[in-house]
Amino acid sequence: MQVFKSGTEWQKSWLQALKTNKTIGFVPTMGALHKGHLELIRASKKSTDLTVVSIFVNPIQFTNQEDFEKYPVLTSQDLELLQKEKVDFVFLPSQESIYPEKPILNFNFGNLERVLEGEFRPGHFSGVGIIVSKLFNIIRPNIAFFGQKDLQQVAIIKKVVQDLSFPLKLHIVPTIREKDGLALSSRNMRLSVQEREKALILYNSLEFAKNELLTNKDWLAVRKQMMLSFEAEPLAKLEYFELVHPETFQVFEEFERGKKSSICVASFIGNIRLIDNLPIIP
Ligand code: PAF
Repeated sequence: MQVFKSGTEWQKSWLQALKTNKTIGFVPTMGALHKGHLELIRASKKSTDLTVVSIFVNPIQFTNQEDFEKYPVLTSQDLELLQKEKVDFVFLPSQESIYPEKPILNFNFGNLERVLEGEFRPGHFSGVGIIVSKLFNIIRPNIAFFGQKDLQQVAIIKKVVQDLSFPLKLHIVPTIREKDGLALSSRNMRLSVQEREKALILYNSLEFAKNELLTNKDWLAVRKQMMLSFEAEPLAKLEYFELVHPETFQVFEEFERGKKSSICVASFIGNIRLIDNLPIIP
C-alpha cells in the first residue's frame, strides 16, 4: 500500500495505471473508518484494478465548528485497516495542500439543497461539492464509490458529475447497519453507552413509518406520530422526518405506491447529530 500526500506524487502512479490500462476505483472518506467504508472499498476492489482511498476531514463542509473539531481522527488505525484490506493507494493530503486559500467558489444546488440537510446545514453541500470536485480532479478515477446512507449527498454528487462532465461512474453502496439496525457512521463512536441505545430511535422510527405506509396509513399522520415519539425521548432532538423523492428531494405530503420514495431522518442524540434513510419499496 502506497501513501501519497499530494497530487503530484499521485500523478506518476496515475500515468502508470493509464499506460497499463488499469481502472481506478476511488473511495473518498473523512477517516475514522468503519465497516460501511470497508464495504465501499470491497466494492471498489471487486470492480476495478486499483483502489485509492482518500482520508481528509473537509473543514468547509462543516457548519458547526465543534462538530469539525471533535470529528474523530484515527489516522494510524485507519491506515492499518486499509493495509489489511489490501488497498493499493491512500491519499492523505494536508489541509494546506487542499486549501492553500479558502475557496471563494460556491456551489448552488437549487431545490436539491433547500430541504433536509441543505436547510439545516446551509453551505454544507457547497463544501461537499468543492472537495469532491477537487478530489476527482486530483485522482481522476474511473469509478467513485459512495454510501447510500448519505442519500442527499449522493444526489448532489450525481449533479456535480453530470453538470461538470466528470468522466467517471458513480457506484452507490447500500447502507451498512449494526445488528440492531443503527446505520454505521463515524459519529457513532462519539455516542455514550446510553446515547448509543437511544440512537436506535432513528432506525426504529424509519422502519415503523415504512411499515405503516405499506399498510396504507396516511403519511402526515404517521409523520406526526413519529415526531411525537422523538419529542418523548429526552436525549433526542429531531430536525426532520420527511418523505422525499430520492433523487430530486421533492418533499411529499402523501405516499403514492409506484412513486420512488424514501423516508429521511436527522436527529441529535445528545450532542451528536445522526442521519438515516430508508427507501420504500412497495
Ligand atoms: O461522505 C463523506 O465522508 C464526505 O462527505 C466526503 C464525500 C468524503 C467529502 O468530504
